[in-house]
Order: sequence, then C-alpha cells, then structure tokens
Amino acid sequence: MERVIGIDLGTTNSCVAIVENGAPAVIPNRGGYKTTPSMVAVTEAGKRLVGHIAKRQAITNAENTVYAAKRLIGRKWNSPQVKNAVATSSYRIVEGPHTDVRIALRDKEYSVPEISAMVLQEMKIIAEDYLGQPVSKAVVTVPAYFNDNQRQATKDAGEIAGLDVIRIINEPTAAALSYGFGKNVEKTIAVYDFGGGTFDISILEIGAHGVFKVIATAGDTFLGGEDIDARIIDWLVQGFKEEHSLDLRQDRMALQRLKDAAEKAKCELSSVRETEVNLPFIISSGRNEALHLQRTLSRQTLEELSADLIERTVDICRQTLEDAKLEKDEIEEVVLVGGMTRMPRIQSAVAGFFEREPNKGVHPDEVVALGAAIQGAALTDDKQEMILLDVTPHALGIMTFGSVFEELIPQNTTVPTHRQKIFTTSRDNQTAVKIIVMQGENEDASANELLGEFILTGLRRAPKGTVEIEVTFEINADGIVSVRAKDLDTGLEQSIQVTASSGLTRDEIKDMIDASKDDLVDRRVSEDFEAAKQEAEKIVAEIERLFPQVEQIVASSDFGRDAIEKARAIVDKARAAIAKKDTAAVKEQLDGLTRTHRMFKGVVAKT
Ligand SMILES: Nc1ncnc2c1ncn2[C@@H]1O[C@H](COP(=O)(O)OP(=O)(O)OP(=O)(O)O)[C@@H](O)[C@H]1O
Ligand SMILES: [Mg+2]
Repeated sequence: MERVIGIDLGTTNSCVAIVENGAPAVIPNRGGYKTTPSMVAVTEAGKRLVGHIAKRQAITNAENTVYAAKRLIGRKWNSPQVKNAVATSSYRIVEGPHTDVRIALRDKEYSVPEISAMVLQEMKIIAEDYLGQPVSKAVVTVPAYFNDNQRQATKDAGEIAGLDVIRIINEPTAAALSYGFGKNVEKTIAVYDFGGGTFDISILEIGAHGVFKVIATAGDTFLGGEDIDARIIDWLVQGFKEEHSLDLRQDRMALQRLKDAAEKAKCELSSVRETEVNLPFIISSGRNEALHLQRTLSRQTLEELSADLIERTVDICRQTLEDAKLEKDEIEEVVLVGGMTRMPRIQSAVAGFFEREPNKGVHPDEVVALGAAIQGAALTDDKQEMILLDVTPHALGIMTFGSVFEELIPQNTTVPTHRQKIFTTSRDNQTAVKIIVMQGENEDASANELLGEFILTGLRRAPKGTVEIEVTFEINADGIVSVRAKDLDTGLEQSIQVTASSGLTRDEIKDMIDASKDDLVDRRVSEDFEAAKQEAEKIVAEIERLFPQVEQIVASSDFGRDAIEKARAIVDKARAAIAKKDTAAVKEQLDGLTRTHRMFKGVVAKT
C-alpha cells in the first residue's frame, strides 16, 4: 500500500512523520534529529544546501541563506509584512513578475514556493531513506489562519517538490488529532500554537468515535518567535549604540551574529533567570580597535520586551472564545504547541487566561507532524473511522460597488462548503461582469485579501438589472477556494480556481518541477561523511590561515587569549573527529568551527 507522510512545514523547523503499525512516529533525519531547520542556502560553488547544513553556514553566507520563508509565502510584494521582511532580512527579497515575492540567491531568483519546495523535498528524502522506498503522497500542514493565497502557494510548493499533497490541514487541528489519537475522549479543548513565525488558536470538540470538530479558529500569521528575537536584537543594538555610538545594523555579519545570539539567549531564559550575550569582536570602533558586545539579559527584561506580543496572543484567544460562544470554564483542556510555548511567561499567560494549567503531555515540536501523518493514514485507510471537521478561518466574499465587501461565507463555517448568490448587471446593455473575490473580516473591501478576479463575458444586451448571474463559491477540505459564475440566461458558465496575482502560473510550476528534479540527482549523494568532512576541513583551513593575524591582534588581552585557546581546542576536536571518520562527531564540531571562523573574520575585518 502507498504510504502517506505527514509534513509540518514550519517557519523555523520542519518535521516529517508516518503511521506505522497503527501508531504515528516522527522520522529522524540523517543526523538523528527529529526536526530539520527550514533553511535553504546556495554556496559559492552553486551547491544547494537544506536543513542543518544550511543553518551551520548561515552567518558566513548570510546573503545567500534563506530562513523563515514561510513568512513570505503567498504574500504580495507591497504587503506590510513583505516590507518588514525586506527591511530586516539578511537575504535579498525582490519583486517578482506578478507583483509577487522572489528571493535572490547568487545569480538566480526563486519564487517562495520554490524555496519551500526545497524544504519539502528534504523531508520527502528523509522519509524515503527511512522507509527504503519512494514516497509520493503527503499531508502538509499550514497555520490555521492562512488565507487562500497562502494555502494555494503551499500546495504549489508540494507540487514543485514532486509530492502529491492529498490534503492541507491546519496545524492546531493536526495537533488536536495527535492529542486525541487512540484516547477515545469526549472533550472541548483549546490548542494554543505559538511557533517561530505564526500564532494560532483553535477550539475543538473531540467527540466519541474519533470525531474532531473545530468550532472556531483565529491567529496571526506574522507573530512568532522571530518577532521576540527581533525585540532582543533591538535591545542589544540600542544598548550598544548608547555605549559606543555605533549602529550594529550597518554590518550584515554583525546583524546575523546578533540574531543567532538573540535566539540562543531567548531559549536559555526558558530554563535560567539570567544569561550573558557575548559577541567578541562584533564591530570595529573606527579607531583600529575591535569592540565586543557583552551584556546580561534577564528573564524579567525579556518578559518586558515581549509583553505586548504575548498580550496580543491572549487577546486573540479571548476573541476566539467569544466567536465559539463558550465560557472559559467550558474549555476542558488547553494544549500547548510550538517551540515558543517553552517560554515560562507564555505558559503562565495561557494558564492565567484560561484559568487552568495547560496540558504539557504533547511534544510541542512533533505533535503537528504526527497529526498530519494520522490524517494521511485516515485518508488512505477505509477502515479508519476518524472524522475531521475543520472551519474556514476567514470570511469569503466579493467586492461590490463602492468597495463594499459582501460576505458570502462567514468566518468559522465548517468546510467543505459552498454558497450561491444571484447578481444582476448594473448598467444597460452591460455585456460583461467582473467578479472580485476576497477573503477577510473587514467591511471595507480594500482592507481584505484579494484572492483573484475574473470576468464573465458574452452577456445578453438588456436593460440593467435584468440579466441574472449565479455565482457559486466553494471552499474545499484543504480550505482552498474556487468560484463558478453562470449566466442564467444563456447557461454560459465560467469557473476558476481562484489564483491570486501573487500565485505562480501553471507553466511556471511545471518548469520549477523540472528544475528541482535535476537538483535531486545531485542532492542524494551529497550529505554523507565526505560532505561533513569537506565542510569542516574548509573552515579549519580558513581558521588556520587567520590564526597568526588574530593572535597578533588579540593576544594582549585576557579575553583574547581565552578566545584563542578555545579556538585551538575546537580545531583539535574537529581534526580528531575527521581522523576517526565519525560523521556525527564532525557535524557536532561544525557549529563551534563556524562561530570561531566568524569571530576570526570579525577580528581581522574590524582592525
Ligand atoms: N526553549 C525555548 N524557549 C523559548 N523559545 C524556544 C525554545 N525552543 C524553541 N523556541 C523558539 O520556538 C520557535 C520555533 O518553534 P517551532 O519549531 O514550533 O516553530 P515552527 O513550527 O517552525 O513555526 P510556525 O509553526 O510558526 O510556522 C523559535 O522561535 C525558537 O526560538
Ligand atoms: Mg509550527
């Protein structure tokens, strides 16, 4: 029987799972990790890197390493979120041919679905290696609050990766499936999912015999760990400016090191109350002297820096509960999902709002992929009796005269669903009508998300208001929208799968599928010991080359001597691991080597 994998395509990390012998399990990657960074890079030699191997070289190859591409998927070039990303990303984001977004790596521009496809392809390969057979079908998860454009673009990514995406499901819903799997519980639960890039809250009823019914959902697709990291970076940059009157943002590499350090500090503060951010030789003083950044960040300060972001998630919870027409005490369990829910302040905020201790029984990084795998198995196995009833997170409607949004399918309607409405012409002898399809909750149409538009032509010439056009709006189980319009006079019909101006054309997708096939041949043989060894040796050689210079510059300070000693130790360890042909050990040293190399380069460049 054809196996279906479940993929959690995360902003920060991705995870793949499968149901085996009736139980879902996460598939570890070759390094033994259960999640893989959603990062993609192109090296100087034009080689494509995905996952841990891309993350390790992120700082020294900042401009050609993509992270958090999910924050851009299905968005338009002129959206505020894209503007924000353009201003803060270390990689180059450019305008595409359909007012969409492209990412420039080396000499090529990639669409966002293409970048996500590389991550999906990596997850596919991880599963194929483990299963020892090709995999072609997948269930892929998306944030519940994703609109049609974002869902469609994610589906395109699957197609480019050579996957038949048999279903798109919402991340919190997947988490609920995994939570309720095999338990036979009857409960109303809330799933609070705070990840690297997005926030979702869903309220579900789990009924007897495996019925999972979503009652309400909401979220923010641009609110996640990335935003908390940004607050820490601001704090560090500001502090440094006050002390040295220098702006660290001017330096791409310094900014990347800050990002790295900010995330590390944030994670540490989930278990300790205070941590030191230590970035030697971060920038030059301009007087031939390298400056260090050394600052203590307390948990309390972090909580102050992120207070409004956490409050925003609580506000969304309050609204969702209202939409579900439930009182707090009717929620019988609160399930925490996503890496950010390890932050104590977030746990206490959730506990405070729902007035109950959240359930910590599910693994926050794995539960979404496990749920996707469960759904995959259910869709292919007739004996499975699980029923999943999800809702549409956004109202669907059209723009009518005067930019008024006419709602046809309200938010939180169970999908699949369809609605019909009859429209008439607004002018005499009007022979064509234009239907502008939108998604959102705003009465002013222009504030909502444009999904697409199409024109029904060839109408009978007649006085205004006499020609009737029946329009059918449909949302399928993936949450994807299609629209059909019918001229009731002539029976003439037109249908579109609504693809927004930000989407890719069919031809473009086809070309991208072909291009990614070529790459696959190259990818399979690359990530073995040889690759790790070559990478380590390259960095060691670079460090060795810089050693004499660095020693000369820094040996006069205790701080510098200490740094030199540590660098020596790391190089020795890496050499020993290479000698032993121990792939895992070599990979373990890569982080340290990269940090050392980065610091050395910093020292030399800044003096
Ligand atoms: N111990 C920790 N304390 C605080 N934050 C953490 C911890 N561990 C991970 N994180 C943060 O969690 C985020 C990643 O979470 P997760 O892997 O759930 O996101 P994702 O699934 O990739 O993103 P999304 O679901 O938003 O698309 C990152 O911002 C990371 O820094
Ligand atoms: Mg996630």
